[in-house]
Amino acid sequence: MSDGPTNGCTTARPKLFEPFTIRGLALKNRLVVPPMVHYRAEAGGTCGAFHLVHLGRYALGGFGLVFVEATAVEEIGLINEHDLGIWNDAQVESFRPLIAFMKRQNTAIGIQLAHGGRKSSSQTAMQGMGPLTEANLKAGAKRWQPVGPTAEPVAKGWLTPRQLTTAECKAMVGTWAHAAKNAVKAGFDTIEIHTAHGYLLASFLSPVSNTRNDEYGGDRAGRMRLPLEIVEAVRKQMPASMPLFVRVSSVDGTVEGWNMDDTVVFARELKARGVDVVDCSSGGISGSATAAQVPRALGFQVPFAERVRKEAEIATMAVRIILEAQQAEAILQKGQADLIAVGRQSQYNPNIAHHWAHDLGLNCRFEDWTPEYGWWLEKRIKTMEGFATPTGTVTHRP
Ligand SMILES: Cc1cc2nc3c(=O)[nH]c(=O)nc-3n(C[C@H](O)[C@H](O)[C@H](O)COP(=O)(O)O)c2cc1C
Repeated sequence: MSDGPTNGCTTARPKLFEPFTIRGLALKNRLVVPPMVHYRAEAGGTCGAFHLVHLGRYALGGFGLVFVEATAVEEIGLINEHDLGIWNDAQVESFRPLIAFMKRQNTAIGIQLAHGGRKSSSQTAMQGMGPLTEANLKAGAKRWQPVGPTAEPVAKGWLTPRQLTTAECKAMVGTWAHAAKNAVKAGFDTIEIHTAHGYLLASFLSPVSNTRNDEYGGDRAGRMRLPLEIVEAVRKQMPASMPLFVRVSSVDGTVEGWNMDDTVVFARELKARGVDVVDCSSGGISGSATAAQVPRALGFQVPFAERVRKEAEIATMAVRIILEAQQAEAILQKGQADLIAVGRQSQYNPNIAHHWAHDLGLNCRFEDWTPEYGWWLEKRIKTMEGFATPTGTVTHRP
């Protein structure tokens, strides 16, 4: 099909499009769609047509790995009633068409396991990601009492959680292990454990929210105990060939909160327990997951991924406000991260992985596109010679 590189195409492979193998999982490139909730679960927290189309677009768009959004390990841990769950067999079965589709496109598919903790039963992003209001309840939103490390709410106006007893913390380990077993049974390629954004496990880690005085609180070791026991239990449910990710809030963004030194120590403990990649996010401990406690800028979380990678010697995923191919490639070239997650920019353009390949001088004859698209786009190049580039930018108007 190709008669060699044209239009500035290169045969050298940028790092972004080098394969990356973690345990037995070979990713075709370093581009990942991070977990993003969309409140479109079917009845009973099952996966249906929305997720097949929504996540399927990213497979057709060339991503190496796509994560299913925060998926609850138990019903009380749903962040919002419209979120996905993976605590029962009906939910396991519901993921099968999506997983089969992704595999057919040679895109790996992961699932983020989550528990909302004291932020369970809260608003959707479009409602504000805060506590449910009277107006939300009148409009039909479902309210239930969440659980947390203590009976302290996230902030004023949020639901008062019920404090988990020591015995319930121990049982929580089994709840996560069961969900992990279900994820393996469904056929996912990888699992990510959500310990970020103020949800249950983040609220155990942070001294802002965990003021317990049993073995699951106190000093940093005590606060890390529940997340680490869960990591161990989840790892035991996974085949040795299956990689495990953990998403962290690298910093709470408050002086008295969880900080980067804590994250490095946590990452070392994760590595010792068989975690393969630390996904470095931030914030969310005392407000919505989007509350701007950490100042925003282009790639502002990348230094977190860099420090974890260097000091804990574990692979990292960089995420947040990564907007262009050259920016993403530079992060990898500088050794700041191993994988690049692209969230909202992939909502804006689900084909962004393919477009970034073009931007970096690869794939100029659409070789890596699914052939049902690539064949046609390659044929069109000749048709447009003299008035448009292969990607359809008009160069000459009549
Ligand atoms: C619509 C939407 C839903 C999100 N849902 C989740 C989620 O389920 N779990 C999670 O850890 N982060 C979630 N996030 C955060 C994203 O995974 C990502 O970290 C964030 O969007 C920053 O990356 P970006 O600047 O590339 O969008 C969500 C973000 C968006 C935009």
